[in-house]
Amino acid sequence: MQIEYKHDEVFRDGFHYANSPAAIRRFPFPFHEDQYMYSVNIEPHVAGPVGSVLEHPFDIDEHYIGECRERALVLEADPGRCQALPHMMAAQWDSLELMMTSLAASYPAQFGLRRDGARWHWHNRLLGIEQSFVFGDVQTLPYAPMEYIMRQVQGDWVLMDHRHDNLYMDAGVVTTQADWSLDFDLGMTFSEWHGPVPRVHEMGIIDRALKFLLNLQAGAPVRRLNWTMTVNPRLDTSPEQYPHWGADRSKVTADNAGELAHLRVELQTLFRLPRSHAIGFGVRCYLISMNELATVPKWAARMHRVLRSLPDELADYKGLTRYRGAVIDWLSRFDDGRPLSNGT
Ligand code: HEM
Repeated sequence: MQIEYKHDEVFRDGFHYANSPAAIRRFPFPFHEDQYMYSVNIEPHVAGPVGSVLEHPFDIDEHYIGECRERALVLEADPGRCQALPHMMAAQWDSLELMMTSLAASYPAQFGLRRDGARWHWHNRLLGIEQSFVFGDVQTLPYAPMEYIMRQVQGDWVLMDHRHDNLYMDAGVVTTQADWSLDFDLGMTFSEWHGPVPRVHEMGIIDRALKFLLNLQAGAPVRRLNWTMTVNPRLDTSPEQYPHWGADRSKVTADNAGELAHLRVELQTLFRLPRSHAIGFGVRCYLISMNELATVPKWAARMHRVLRSLPDELADYKGLTRYRGAVIDWLSRFDDGRPLSNGT
């Protein structure tokens, strides 16, 4: 698929962001039914339809250049958004290898990788980067391997160490997250960092998900979708930046919700890494305004019903309480109450 890369997007105050009709068509709308509840919604991360966000292991889209620029800005202001405990170096190299080989195979016109033993040459034509380096030798790259590659990939990346039959969040580059903090969670176990999520512990979701992930095999990645909402097309809704975005939630009205309120969908992928036996967790964020979403009438009606029926506890955890009503009012004009077929 031919992608028209945008060069001038801004994901912070002064926002400049829109989805083309092609990007709207491939948006990973997550609701198959009129109600939503948490589940262990994991499936194999195999290639999906051509042109869809699932076509390749790592999806690159029209927002690539702006998202890489946004990551650089966040890291410049707050280097703590990239952290790695010392024992995670093998997993860092695993991550770099996984992403470079995958991007070069998926998008040969944009990314190139030549390998001669440990001597590698990487070419990123979209950002104009060429780099020769020795795989395994940190001194030959301008950043540590995980940071180097994550500055050139859309979405966040967390590395989990597998030990004592548990997963520990021991490294990551997290600059586009939905209100959680790598700095706070670093070193925690799977159930500890999921501590704040309502209902999932009683429903057994966290225990079942952990058990599944401990058996994850190299070469057989899996994925799941998660969602929330964000006011404005802001990628960095971290606790660290809360003073910059928290108050936006009180600005949404039934008149401006189409422009201000955005559905935020996370395509979460999990890869077992071959050398380190760590697990890499990708969180690829897709934003769509209610105006854009409503160009697909079924999505607008479905979104209306999901928001209306969402349990208060989940709405509260997702930070929707202050503006959920305004968005429901705005969406109501697209919902005539007739049954919608299952699926997106
Ligand atoms: C939050 C489930 C894997 C990190 C959540 C939420 C659910 C969930 C339901 C609440 C989301 C919301 O309402 O917006 C699962 C399941 C997993 C999984 C079923 C199985 C694959 C992971 C992994 C990580 C992770 C591998 C690694 C970083 C988080 C974090 C939060 C979260 C940081 C936010 C917690 C907070 O509020 O501080 N997860 N998750 N999850 N998940 Fe997971």
